[in-house]
Amino acid sequence: MANLSVSFHGVQFGNPTVLASGVLGVTSSTWRSVVQNGAGGITTKSIWLEEHHGHPNPTMITTPYYMMNAVGLSDAGVEKASSEIASFSNEKPSPLIASIVAGTPGDFEQVAEKVAGLPVDIIEVNISCPNVESEFGRPFACVMPDAKRVTEIVKAAAKKVNPNLPVIVKLSPNVESITAIANACAEGGADGFCLINTIGPGLAINLETRMPILSNKVGGVSGPAIKPVAVKMVRDVYTATKLPIIGTGGITTGLDALEIMMAGATLVGVGSAVYYRGIDVFKKMTHEMNEWLDKNGVQNVAEIIGTVKM
Ligand SMILES: Cc1cc2nc3c(=O)[nH]c(=O)nc-3n(C[C@H](O)[C@H](O)[C@H](O)COP(=O)(O)O)c2cc1C
Repeated sequence: MANLSVSFHGVQFGNPTVLASGVLGVTSSTWRSVVQNGAGGITTKSIWLEEHHGHPNPTMITTPYYMMNAVGLSDAGVEKASSEIASFSNEKPSPLIASIVAGTPGDFEQVAEKVAGLPVDIIEVNISCPNVESEFGRPFACVMPDAKRVTEIVKAAAKKVNPNLPVIVKLSPNVESITAIANACAEGGADGFCLINTIGPGLAINLETRMPILSNKVGGVSGPAIKPVAVKMVRDVYTATKLPIIGTGGITTGLDALEIMMAGATLVGVGSAVYYRGIDVFKKMTHEMNEWLDKNGVQNVAEIIGTVKM
């Protein structure tokens, strides 16, 4: 069997699959069970400074090809997250990536400072959620100077507390040039990226009522249909920055994982696939990866990163 371990900015993962932010709850017991089901790492739901209420139900629809959600980043705030993170780190079954979110650069600074003092391995800066636009305006990830400024602020705040903690930025696909945004974040001090967040927003209509299905009317699109967009954007950002990437977006099988790694991802984020294939999707995916790697004589999965021939 091939060696599936990878190193992401110096953090060692047993295999490249990582639970994507926002999926499968916020408790340490859920994170532990995700690791028991084969995940190489965990990303927390995006953590706010204070409690944040999301949108009312219905917040999610699932189809065979895509999902659409407008959960709206509901979260109990950094104090509650701290105790879950502490509990997870007692056993530390895998690396933990803490996703943080805020509506202003000042709040980003505060939440980054608090989270950098916790036993986490990487901070992921969520500047790309399309579902809170009505509250906060255009996501920072869609405006180049904002993306750079938030990156600088979070990096400086984290550095004060824990100088070696990697800070990665979660990018939005809903932009004119993802490489321009990625380069701006790299100038701001980003150590890597996670991409992509959901696409859209999209709209789904109930034919009987002629009304939007989601209470928020629109939502972010995820799942199998968005994979080719994610693969292309990972390729673009990898080529432009050479920084490590968590490739996310529609990754559902082990072969999908290998595909986005060939595009340049070191780790692979798994979100919607948990709904399609169950919590043991991570075990299924690593098994599928191993089968392909063995058949093709690849001994270390890390060898395939960025090897697409364009
Ligand atoms: C129900 C749901 C909630 C999500 N919440 C978050 C979140 O809190 N923070 C974040 O950065 N991304 C969030 N996302 C985006 C995912 O992390 C991921 O980037 C996106 O869904 C694409 O990957 P996928 O196709 O594997 O789901 C959420 C996605 C879904 C489906």
